[in-house]
Amino acid sequence: MPAETCAGHKDVFLAKASKRSPLILRMVVLISAVVCGLYIFSICINQTDYKFRQAKPLKIQVIDRRNRSNCRNTGIQEPDLRYVHFPEPESFSRQECACNPVRLFAIVSMQRSGSGWFETLLNSHMNLSSNGEIFGPSERRNNVSMIYKTLDKVYNLDWFSSASKNECSAAVGFKWMINQGLMEHHEEVADYFNTRGVSLIFLLRRNLLRRMISLLANTYDKNVKLLNGTHKSHVHSPHEAEVLAGYKPTLNVSTLVSNIRSAEGTAARALECFKTTRHIVLYYEDIITNHTKLVEVQEFLKLPSQNLTSGQVKIHSGPLSRYVANWEDVRKTLQGTSYENLLNTDYKS
Ligand SMILES: *[C@@H]1O[C@H](CO)[C@@H](O)[C@H](O)[C@H]1NC(C)=O
Ligand SMILES: *[C@@H]1O[C@H](CO)[C@@H](O)[C@H](O)[C@H]1NC(C)=O
Ligand SMILES: *[C@@H]1O[C@H](CO)[C@@H](O)[C@H](O)[C@H]1NC(C)=O
Ligand SMILES: *[C@@H]1O[C@H](CO)[C@@H](O)[C@H](O)[C@H]1NC(C)=O
Ligand SMILES: *[C@@H]1O[C@H](CO)[C@@H](O)[C@H](O)[C@H]1NC(C)=O
Ligand SMILES: *[C@@H]1O[C@H](CO)[C@@H](O)[C@H](O)[C@H]1NC(C)=O
Ligand SMILES: *[C@@H]1O[C@H](CO)[C@@H](O)[C@H](O)[C@H]1NC(C)=O
Repeated sequence: MPAETCAGHKDVFLAKASKRSPLILRMVVLISAVVCGLYIFSICINQTDYKFRQAKPLKIQVIDRRNRSNCRNTGIQEPDLRYVHFPEPESFSRQECACNPVRLFAIVSMQRSGSGWFETLLNSHMNLSSNGEIFGPSERRNNVSMIYKTLDKVYNLDWFSSASKNECSAAVGFKWMINQGLMEHHEEVADYFNTRGVSLIFLLRRNLLRRMISLLANTYDKNVKLLNGTHKSHVHSPHEAEVLAGYKPTLNVSTLVSNIRSAEGTAARALECFKTTRHIVLYYEDIITNHTKLVEVQEFLKLPSQNLTSGQVKIHSGPLSRYVANWEDVRKTLQGTSYENLLNTDYKS
């Protein structure tokens, strides 16, 4: 994998340049890009002053409510203090739990990486509230002030969802998909996370081929609605899983490798951009096969350890060859590439 820079989009560009495209064509593209660039630059240079003033990131005050309460005597160690909060919600009173410390977190993930399932596991903890994909609606992430406003509301326990535990939450957070405004504003967001002491849980998937199949099947079901006319992204019975897994997508083998590489690059860039924020990196596959991973997450959030449960059932739980229409082509395409191992990894539990 090429070294990732935080903001760059290098891998996507590389992925699109075909190996076979003639040198001459590349030269023409390069020269027109340079000419075009110079032209734009010459226009912009007149407006530099104006642009600079515009481009300066809005410095928005991050409100830190940690010190408002008289909850200092809880025996929290010094290095840990910045991660501990005593929110005073506007919509209710924390009552007997007012001086129970609250940790702030965000699950950073990508679609079809098991984050829905992971979130139901976390929410089975009596002191944890993970409020779902709150940045799904684009109006909440139009600009940095909207993002800050939304984050403030969640972290002040004023956000209500079916997951809210209200008074006695000891950890509060939500799920942030990398493609939901996180990268567009990564500097300001990292600033917020670091100032307010938010901890990040990266939930990634090792087998990006399985992820691709899950994406295609989920997109298909959005249109076809295999389960009695209702689209489901997650299911709760083996029967439902079987119905959804009955659809076998055909993968486009000419874009297969570049798509996998592009997803890999997206995850690597997010890790790079938020590496200064306190974080933990988890892989979906590891959580399935190793139950101590969930203990590790609870320790990371300093929660009392409990057995976590989810009613969700995995949709594609068998060998991959069973779920792809053009499996032979897919196998041949990936054989001999660095992604060959994705063909063979199955679940053992
Ligand atoms: C808030 O608490 C921190 C950590 O105890 C302390 O360093 C800081 O001075 C306090 N700020 C205010 C305004 O009391
Ligand atoms: C951010 O977006 C909201 C809603 O779209 C808008 O009302 C607000 O004026 C915008 N703020 C800034 C600073 O652009
Ligand atoms: C967890 O919730 C229970 C009941 O709601 C409460 O008694 C307990 O103090 C909470 N634990 C923490 C660590 O906040
Ligand atoms: C559709 O609904 C019927 C009756 O409610 C139920 O018996 C059946 O299992 C459902 N089918 C699926 C695929 O969920
Ligand atoms: C595969 O993707 C390429 C590039 O997007 C496209 O031109 C081609 O039509 C696709 N092939 C199929 C079979 O969908
Ligand atoms: C399971 O996860 C724990 C916690 O991350 C780790 O210490 C342990 O080595 C893992 N076990 C296996 C078999 O991978
Ligand atoms: C979790 O479940 C296991 C087996 O189901 C049990 O042995 C263990 O005591 C449980 N732990 C807690 C903290 O409930």
